[in-house]
Amino acid sequence: MKIPVPIVQNPGRSFGKVNEIYSCYRPIYPQQLFDTILMSVKGPYLDAVDLGAGTGISTRWLSTVFQRVTAIEPDKNMTKAGEFPQNVEILNSSGETAKLKANTYQLVTSGNAFYWMDAKSVLNNISEWLEPDGTLAVFRYDFPKIHNREIDDLINEHLYRYWDMYRHERLKDTDFSFREISGCSLFKNVAIERIPYFMKWDAEKLVGFLRSTSYVSKYESTLDNKKEYIEDLYKKIKFAAMDNCFIADMSLELILAENVKN
Ligand SMILES: C[S@@+](CC[C@H](N)C(=O)[O-])C[C@H]1O[C@@H](n2cnc3c(N)ncnc32)[C@H](O)[C@@H]1O
Repeated sequence: MKIPVPIVQNPGRSFGKVNEIYSCYRPIYPQQLFDTILMSVKGPYLDAVDLGAGTGISTRWLSTVFQRVTAIEPDKNMTKAGEFPQNVEILNSSGETAKLKANTYQLVTSGNAFYWMDAKSVLNNISEWLEPDGTLAVFRYDFPKIHNREIDDLINEHLYRYWDMYRHERLKDTDFSFREISGCSLFKNVAIERIPYFMKWDAEKLVGFLRSTSYVSKYESTLDNKKEYIEDLYKKIKFAAMDNCFIADMSLELILAENVKN
């Protein structure tokens, strides 16, 4: 018998449905990520853009370094759930339709968001907004790798048995961002690096993170016994964890590129 595969619409625009979970459980990014990005930005640090800013995790860091930051985020429920400092202007629009001043920004960042966009149209916009030689920094992490065999096997079993059919192809096409940016003539010196990031998590943090993803939240929304399913997953993880703690590998892929426009 053929198992029906649901048609997955672009779920990158549905994070607002889990905005509270997102703001509680998505981890902040490591300092090493920001240090590495800054090394490639020529000062002075005046204007930056955070594209697909969500609840503002990386926007808040940008706002400590740059005088002015523009957070572009199409989903008002995401910006509502976040905190944005005074020097941040929120633009509730998509990367494809946002209108910003040309030749103005030293840095555009996009964390766990670029792969949801129409890359060609957004890269055109970013190139226009950036100053000549301005920096584009695109970063993302993958499905968590847990340094506890039992827990890692458990979440992978759930991934392939229940969640994978709701994972958008773009999340599985891990080369997407690098391919699009390096294939775009508007950017040069495209480099990719790995930023190690290991966190001490417990069952609540792991389940919370998973529930904040587009695919687990979508799977959850199809269930009649949602509460029981989540509680059962939580209990199994807690039972398998030593002292309820384990290391989650959330290492990041960072792509840096320089605007060629002059
Ligand atoms: C996984 S969240 C990442 C949010 C934030 N950058 C972070 O690191 O936590 C992806 C975000 O991209 C936004 N997004 C989806 N499509 C977009 C588009 N076409 N233009 C701009 N943002 C988009 C979503 O609304 C969502 O807030």
